[in-house]
Amino acid sequence: MKKVLITGVSGQVGQAIYRILSRSNSYELFLTNRTPNIEHNIEELDISDERAVETIIDRIMPDIIINCAAFTAVDLCESEEDRAYEINALGPKYLAIAAERAGAVLVHLSSDYVFDGNALKPYIESDSTTPISAYGRTKLAGEAFVKENCKKYFILRPAWVYGQGKNFVKTMVRLAESGKDIRVVSDQIGSPTSAIEIARVISFLVKTESYGIYHSTCEGSCSWYDFTMEIMKLAGKDVKVSPITTSEYPTAAKRPMYSVLENKALRERHNYVMKDWKEAFKEYWEKKE
Ligand SMILES: NC(=O)c1ccc[n+]([C@@H]2O[C@H](COP(=O)([O-])OP(=O)(O)OC[C@H]3O[C@@H](n4cnc5c(N)ncnc54)[C@H](OP(=O)(O)O)[C@@H]3O)[C@@H](O)[C@H]2O)c1
Repeated sequence: MKKVLITGVSGQVGQAIYRILSRSNSYELFLTNRTPNIEHNIEELDISDERAVETIIDRIMPDIIINCAAFTAVDLCESEEDRAYEINALGPKYLAIAAERAGAVLVHLSSDYVFDGNALKPYIESDSTTPISAYGRTKLAGEAFVKENCKKYFILRPAWVYGQGKNFVKTMVRLAESGKDIRVVSDQIGSPTSAIEIARVISFLVKTESYGIYHSTCEGSCSWYDFTMEIMKLAGKDVKVSPITTSEYPTAAKRPMYSVLENKALRERHNYVMKDWKEAFKEYWEKKE
């Protein structure tokens, strides 16, 4: 049985990976989060606390560490970049150093925000990275620390994630239920990706030794407006949704306009194809996971 330490297990991807791995008899899971939860057997671990990271990894000696913890409030990262750096860059660094010492595999979640979004075709893993936000800068620094400090790593770059917890889907449904007209940007393009699809990729990759960077987004792409229309369709909400431009919806952080990633490494190295975004969203909607 392999020992797996999950950080940030209470988040969207953390919960999904827990659900997938706990169905297998091959893993003994150690659950951690910044906010502990005794009822759910979740131990406290703040990944930006170097000593705490060292202590728990030296105690458990995991075979696999899956880092789902991050400072994901993209706009807040602009005003709190130092804190974001501690969690999104130094946290993975401490995990990578401890993983190397323990001989563990580190799975780290990065982001599409490492790219600037000016491309005209889907980004592949080897494309140059030029983040345009504090969040993106801190996530890219996290990737660099992982690569520098441990040999056995998988860095996944998902995008537009939804799962259990707060997310875009729930916000749109809540807005629809409030009866207000909804205005959604239609000029940012990406690939909505379910947390469970990301968890399936992780569960697949950890059975291999094919380390490296993996784009891991659902197939196909759309705008936030298109995604909202799909949400309303499945939710059976007949409300007015108006497309707007990014300039009509100013935010603290700049977002990549074109955030489509090609899962080249998954496809070429493993012949692994993630679900189309509409199919994955339908599955999420029906199972609510
Ligand atoms: N959401 C997206 O659209 C998206 C897109 C691309 C990439 N990603 C990446 O995918 C990964 C998972 O994202 P997600 O959507 O699952 O995030 P999420 O739902 O925001 O969950 C993040 C989790 O990390 C925990 N956490 C925050 N700071 C921590 C710390 N210092 N130490 C330990 N735990 C901490 C949070 O706990 P509390 O709730 O107690 O704060 C929460 O449980 C992240 O690396 C993120 O950058 C996400």
